[in-house]
Amino acid sequence: KPTVESAIMVSKPSPVILTQDELKKIAAYKAVEFVESGMVLGLGTGSTAKHAVDRIGELLRLGKLNNIVGIPTSKMTHEQAVSVGIPLSDLDSHPVVDLAIDGADEVDPYMNLVKGRGGSLLREKMIEGACKKFVVIVDESKLVEHLGGSGLAMPVEIVPFCWKFTAHRLQLLFEEAGCVAKLRTFGENGKPFVTDNKNYIIDLYFKKDIGDLNAASDAILRHPGVVEHGMFLGMATTVIIAGELGVTMKNK
Ligand code: 5RP
Repeated sequence: KPTVESAIMVSKPSPVILTQDELKKIAAYKAVEFVESGMVLGLGTGSTAKHAVDRIGELLRLGKLNNIVGIPTSKMTHEQAVSVGIPLSDLDSHPVVDLAIDGADEVDPYMNLVKGRGGSLLREKMIEGACKKFVVIVDESKLVEHLGGSGLAMPVEIVPFCWKFTAHRLQLLFEEAGCVAKLRTFGENGKPFVTDNKNYIIDLYFKKDIGDLNAASDAILRHPGVVEHGMFLGMATTVIIAGELGVTMKNK
């Protein structure tokens, strides 16, 4: 298990009650303080990471940062980064990423994460797995005791071919944890949600603790129809948490 060596308060509580989006923005701006000119940056996806991407673009325009190369973790982030003027590249050209900044859906006390409720888990895992530092930015609502224990989705990206078969196999895998596997859909007609990589997502919902996370990860990845899952185990190097009591930073 990775151990969390430090958890330090880096700012004081705000005198006014902040919205969840304001907390996300505070965490994102704090993370951007780690960015230095000349860095190759992994650009995350979601409403929290969006604030970081905006801020990096702003600092580039102000001339406070230069020579940045961004590697976006989704088509959506690609478009946003272009719109705020961040020069972009990819892992083929830049296989080593200095720093990635991204949000998360769940963060446990060991800095393990659930990601992918926004649907971008595969590119996120490839890019964040290639970086020297991975800074996770969350508001305090994302903190959990056990991954998958919040009753919310644990996403798994799968190939569309015979998706029902794969979904059924995944559900059976976690039968003891009361797992229900559902195809992610969108719109009134319930069309399958299609990822940037043209895959589907199966969301796993658990009634009980899934136990050893590394064993669960290995078991999911053994299924041939599975491309990747949304557990990011031992990958985060820093977690920045914005809450009503201020901003806390944990380092691995
Ligand atoms: C997208 C993700 C996001 O980082 C995660 O869903 C958090 O999103 P938000 O910052 O909007 O709460 O993993 O695939």
